[in-house]
Amino acid sequence: KKVVLAYSGGLDTSIILKWLKETYGCEVVTFTADLGQGEELEPARRKAEMLGIKEIYIEDLREEFVRDYVFPMFRMNALYEGVYLLGTSIARPLISKRLVEIAHATGADAIAHGATGKGNDQVRFELSAYALDPDIRVIAPWREWDFKSRTDLINFAEEHQIVVPKDKRGEAPFSVDANLLHSSSEGKVLEDPFEEAPEYVYQRTISPEEAPDKPTYIEIGFKKGDPISIDGKAMSPATLLTELNRLGHDNGIGRLDMVENRFVGMKNRGVYETPGGTVLHHAHRAIESLTLDRGAAHLKDELMPRYAELIYNGFWFSPEREMIQAMADKSQETVEGTVRVKLYKGNVTVVGRKSDQSLYSEELVTFEDDRGAYDQKDAAGFIRLNALRLRTLAARKRRG
Ligand code: ARG
Ligand code: SIN
Repeated sequence: KKVVLAYSGGLDTSIILKWLKETYGCEVVTFTADLGQGEELEPARRKAEMLGIKEIYIEDLREEFVRDYVFPMFRMNALYEGVYLLGTSIARPLISKRLVEIAHATGADAIAHGATGKGNDQVRFELSAYALDPDIRVIAPWREWDFKSRTDLINFAEEHQIVVPKDKRGEAPFSVDANLLHSSSEGKVLEDPFEEAPEYVYQRTISPEEAPDKPTYIEIGFKKGDPISIDGKAMSPATLLTELNRLGHDNGIGRLDMVENRFVGMKNRGVYETPGGTVLHHAHRAIESLTLDRGAAHLKDELMPRYAELIYNGFWFSPEREMIQAMADKSQETVEGTVRVKLYKGNVTVVGRKSDQSLYSEELVTFEDDRGAYDQKDAAGFIRLNALRLRTLAARKRRG
């Protein structure tokens, strides 16, 4: 028996590692991915070695993450419940995909993750895994073990030669998940939704109050709906998002404090920082505003909440998500050009856009002489016909 564990190298997943060996008497393969969480991976390798692991997978997935997950999602302008850019949700399918692939490569029959039984992440990991391998077994230790408290966990760690850092002895002040797209913080000091999040919760952005008094202007180039350059300099997906994160960080951009509905039924207060993603979201909508036909744009907007919910709920690898994606990708064929944005004290303001594929016509919209492009007299009939049923209704109302 062999299990592939999504291993961060941290205390909790180290405990899971030992617990799996003890409870299932199985071999454990560890998988640690660099998704841009900003942590070094070599310590995870050393820790896995110290815990007696023979098969250790460590991979830099940043480019794949941004190119095949983040950018496709941004083509749909996805926001969950109107505001959340889905930074954690979009990373889970990729981790599951690699867990399943590594299970196949190493002859393992199960995968394991460190998500609790109360959250969304367990659902995302497992729905993704089952969509890719109907027979995979999933072990979720948090749902199985009978540790009742942090002390139980620490005791178990100490009995099993797991180093417990001093600051991990007590309860963490809140729970964090980070990758190239965002950092999320929830729980503990954030549990009262009326209490403002303390400044130390924020790790990816300076506060708007601390941001420079001078705005930063940048130009983002797009092709087929994806950003390809900043200020004319072409960049790979992960490099570009890293650079947007830096610019967003410096200008206090992308902080969000929300109460959201988890798929499992409870409400949760989360604090998110998505500096680069916030800039990209606004810039993408701006290039679409110039290059997408109204019918196409409004259809996308109608389906967006549905698409966002699918990703939030863990249905990335589902036919309906892929269908909406195919529609979105089709719409992006002509979404190209340049957007100029102004970054200033927590705000992203679009101040200019241009495109060879622009549908914007100064000639049509001008209040000056349009030389016959548009006949204002046509509008009279247009309004008369559109008003027909409204007038019929109004007449009935008057009759009483
Ligand atoms: N509530 C967010 C979501 O469901 C973030 C979850 C954070 N995950 C974590 N393991 N701390 O997408
Ligand atoms: C967890 O419960 O493991 C994190 C929060 C979530 O998945 O929503």
